[in-house]
Amino acid sequence: MSSQLPETHRALELISTEEPLQVKTFQTPQPGPGNAVVRVLAANVISYSGDIYNGKRQYPFPKPFVPGSNAIGRVAAVGPDATTLTPGQLVLLDCTIRGRDDPSAAILSGIIEGFTEGSRKLMHGEWRNSSYAEYTKFPLENCIPLNEQHLLGSPSAGGLGYAAEDLCQISRFLVPYGGLDDIGLKPGETIIVAPATGQFGGGAVRVALAMGASRVIAMGRNEAALKQLSALSDRVVTVKITGNEQADAEALEKLGPAEVFFDISPPMAAGSTHFKSAIAALGHSGRISLMGGVRADLSFLYSDFMHRNLSMKGTWMYSRAQILNFIKLIDSGLLPLGQKAGLTVRGKFGLEEWKEAFEVASLAGTEGTVVIAP
Ligand SMILES: NC(=O)c1ccc[n+]([C@@H]2O[C@H](COP(=O)([O-])OP(=O)(O)OC[C@H]3O[C@@H](n4cnc5c(N)ncnc54)[C@H](OP(=O)(O)O)[C@@H]3O)[C@@H](O)[C@H]2O)c1
Repeated sequence: MSSQLPETHRALELISTEEPLQVKTFQTPQPGPGNAVVRVLAANVISYSGDIYNGKRQYPFPKPFVPGSNAIGRVAAVGPDATTLTPGQLVLLDCTIRGRDDPSAAILSGIIEGFTEGSRKLMHGEWRNSSYAEYTKFPLENCIPLNEQHLLGSPSAGGLGYAAEDLCQISRFLVPYGGLDDIGLKPGETIIVAPATGQFGGGAVRVALAMGASRVIAMGRNEAALKQLSALSDRVVTVKITGNEQADAEALEKLGPAEVFFDISPPMAAGSTHFKSAIAALGHSGRISLMGGVRADLSFLYSDFMHRNLSMKGTWMYSRAQILNFIKLIDSGLLPLGQKAGLTVRGKFGLEEWKEAFEVASLAGTEGTVVIAP
């Protein structure tokens, strides 16, 4: 079903990583089978966005294209095969677009074209443009319906009183939820999160609390950020990454044994000592989730893994089923957003202010969030 869409709309375009992004006028996409056109209200800005679009992170993507990320929007028009989505509905746009005939071919819309021939086909063709735009086209299955009345409704009327920019924080929680659900974090377990002082790392601490971990050991180098995390709950304790593998392992062991180690290291942490300290502190049958962006060959002691029955699992993003389960944590209030979660919106920027948005996001730490509101 199609509603009134403007003929044109504004969007941010990346022409090449060597030149600044530009706000341009585009034809508004039209809905077709299997997709919806959504009016973007607020799109998430990740801490290292600047380094993605200036080429420093060397993420592959087609050029030119409209960058973006997960976003909150309102359905403007839907294709003829939409069965429940209707214009006006509030949705979370999930940037993880997968091949319908091969879900392992995945792109992150607006961020990276993935690493297979199939995923590249998705981003060089139908799903080239993302959410730093007034209107964007997304697959129907990536438009996750949100309970607007409950989430945005005023607390005096029984709602949670969030704004669209608060809902964008779902993104920093969903990523660690994917890994934590994959390794089956259970209520009552002790988990080590490292590094915990970044945006997704800090998100992992909050998600682990909501999933019922009895103790969350937040590891990081930044003592001020660790202090902020320990203020979240008396179930959070902190251990500094000092660079001394043995000493840090002993500090962890005093708090353990831990059942789970969740790693969300950025590429720069490839040489960090925390991998081995955390693995050493796991109890028998400990589980390790790798979700970081490390591009390095890390070693481990084979016999140690075998004798202690350790297991390790990598996770890129999350599945649609995990999103639907995760939303229950938000709806129920078990995982709060915004001020209630110690998170502050540091900036809500227009499309023209993209540079400032990326700069503020890079400095926002574990407590700050930034959105682009086109
Ligand atoms: N698997 C997935 O689906 C997925 C999804 C999104 C992101 N990621 C990956 O997750 C990574 C982390 O995301 P984020 O949002 O938490 O990043 P972030 O906000 O940039 O934070 C980076 C974290 O890494 C720490 N760090 C940086 N250099 C370090 C080093 N040399 N040794 C130890 N710690 C170091 C920082 O601590 P300091 O404060 O001490 O600098 C901070 O805690 C990203 O870079 C990305 O590659 C994976």
